[in-house]
Amino acid sequence: MSNSCKKAYITTPIYYVNDIAHIGHAYTTIIADTVARYSRMSGLDTFFLTGTDEHGQKIEESAKIRGKSAQEYADEISATFKNLWDDFGISYDKFIRTTDAEHIKGVQKAFGVMYDNGDIYKDVYKGHYCISCETFFPESQLVDGEFCPECGKPTTIVEEESYFFRLSAYEEKLLAWYDENPDCILPKSKRNEVIRFVEGGLDDLSITRTSFDWGVKLPENLGDPKHVMYVWLDALMNYITALGYGTDEANMDFWPARVHLIGKDILRFHAIYWPAFLMSLGLPMPKHIAAHGWWTRDGEKMSKSKGNVVNPREVADAYGLDNFRYFMLREVPFGGDGDFSQKALIDRINSDLGNDLGNLLNRLIGMSGKYFEGKVDSANVAKYYQAELDEVHASLDKLEPLLFDMQIHKYLEELWRPLTVANKAIDKYQPWTLMKEGKEEEAMALNGLIAAILGKVSVMLYPVMPEVCTKISEALSFTIDNASWNALFKERKNLDTFIIEKIPPLFPRIEEPLLEQAEPEDIKTEPKTKVAEPAKAKEEGIALIGIDQFFQTSLKVGTVVKAEEIPKSKKLLLLQVDIGEENPRQVVAGIKKWYSANEMLGTQVCVVANLKPAKLMGLKSEGMLLAAKDENGLCMIRPEKPKTPGTPIS
Ligand code: MSP
Repeated sequence: MSNSCKKAYITTPIYYVNDIAHIGHAYTTIIADTVARYSRMSGLDTFFLTGTDEHGQKIEESAKIRGKSAQEYADEISATFKNLWDDFGISYDKFIRTTDAEHIKGVQKAFGVMYDNGDIYKDVYKGHYCISCETFFPESQLVDGEFCPECGKPTTIVEEESYFFRLSAYEEKLLAWYDENPDCILPKSKRNEVIRFVEGGLDDLSITRTSFDWGVKLPENLGDPKHVMYVWLDALMNYITALGYGTDEANMDFWPARVHLIGKDILRFHAIYWPAFLMSLGLPMPKHIAAHGWWTRDGEKMSKSKGNVVNPREVADAYGLDNFRYFMLREVPFGGDGDFSQKALIDRINSDLGNDLGNLLNRLIGMSGKYFEGKVDSANVAKYYQAELDEVHASLDKLEPLLFDMQIHKYLEELWRPLTVANKAIDKYQPWTLMKEGKEEEAMALNGLIAAILGKVSVMLYPVMPEVCTKISEALSFTIDNASWNALFKERKNLDTFIIEKIPPLFPRIEEPLLEQAEPEDIKTEPKTKVAEPAKAKEEGIALIGIDQFFQTSLKVGTVVKAEEIPKSKKLLLLQVDIGEENPRQVVAGIKKWYSANEMLGTQVCVVANLKPAKLMGLKSEGMLLAAKDENGLCMIRPEKPKTPGTPIS
């Protein structure tokens, strides 16, 4: 069967609309985009799905806090995801929303089919529910008998009538599926975790709720309008409703999925619940469920309260989208956790991209310009450089299985070997010496070899770095598509004769971090209720602290005795704040957008005095100023009357 008859269905998780996209979301989407681009280029009939997960109590509450209807709020945040993926050139074929009418119909149909199969029954559920994770937890798993083991927020006890899915009936069938399909869960180490979990026994799953409204209603014929579906049942079904399940089923021949890309935190839902639902629906199993690891920033877990969440748009704007894509996929072995730091990103750009790839193209442009007026002819490459070609093809031959096994970091590592072969060949054969010795044909063949290697590498790198590789292929006078993929990769051909186009360096060297570090004062806070009575706080999932914990923070009144701007920084001011100690404290504050240095000088502020010192733009910061920020801007929190510097705030 030719590749074009074969189908490849590739999915990302659908993202919750209670938050804006961060680097974790971008990571999943970029891996999926890479696999989809490769599939298309290699001639597979490809369908790439992404979208947003919009129902559930968490979303309903996030909307309420903002004074919006759930639908309004979901529309707004869903659009921010879609816009980001559009701006990132993500090549999705469909962007699904769980509020789409077709999706809702499809989920209702699926519910009906499972019900008719006898896999769904009605009972009463009593248990601890974490709204934030949209998950029930048995008492044995709770922290201190109350808090969610996943996110640490308080759980609520829910007792209500519920429909259940007979998950327990699928234990044996699931174990048989894992057993017969060793690579159904990637990386393989994760499969063992899932098997151990299932072997521990599965309880039936509560799949409807009556305590809130924002969800898919049950099929009408069940006559139970107070129930809405559990968000994970609703959400997982997106993988088939996007292909028309329950409505126009024309695209259902893309099923089963070649790969569901997910993060490791949602593996249980995808590797246990989802296959069990599919078994109940009588549909085939997905080929792979691939779970990637977690991203941290500078070694720390990202969170809004720490203000260290990496915004993918900012990184791509500052460093280039393709460079960011390359970094994410190259830096971390798939399945492992990764750390985002500007230093690591800069190192990858300067070294792998600048020195190895960009420089090779520059050398080729230089050599062909100097000796052959820009002409590159590959006719005699095999005559002089067969050994190099063999080495290059040996590496390229390893690539495809690595990609489809999600070993993308190894794919890129292997793809860099041909670049090393090329750079070494120039050093070894020295075109300038060949020219001096009158070996023009050999020198031209060397150019042809370098061009061929650059051509082959740019085709295979295209799924990861589409823009950059398009530029390289334009300089080398060819187009990246299924035909050139076949010629350069499958058939091991070289490039036709061409005149090279001079293009500016693709990876100018980066000397310093281009992004300012976010700092705590500069957090994009959610307009959450600031002061909440305990019951309300609990309901809203805000963790409560004891008074002792509050007093662990040392707050003091300070007077700004010196204030200056930090050259090159759009956000930061450098302040010296007298808090009654021998020397003033140096505080780097992200307030420049709202206050000039002059305005701050001589004023009083409230200082968090026992924060660990941090470095911002290379400057030590020994405290943090309290401020309030909403959509109208930021203002400092100050004592109402002048107070002696160092006066404690309680
Ligand atoms: N809505 C569910 C998925 C339903 S799929 C049927 C959900 N949404 S999510 O928005 O919370 O997360 C989506 C993806 O982002 C998950 O794969 C998750 O692993 C990933 N990430 C969220 N934070 C992350 C990091 N810090 N690092 C890496 N990926 C992480 O779960």
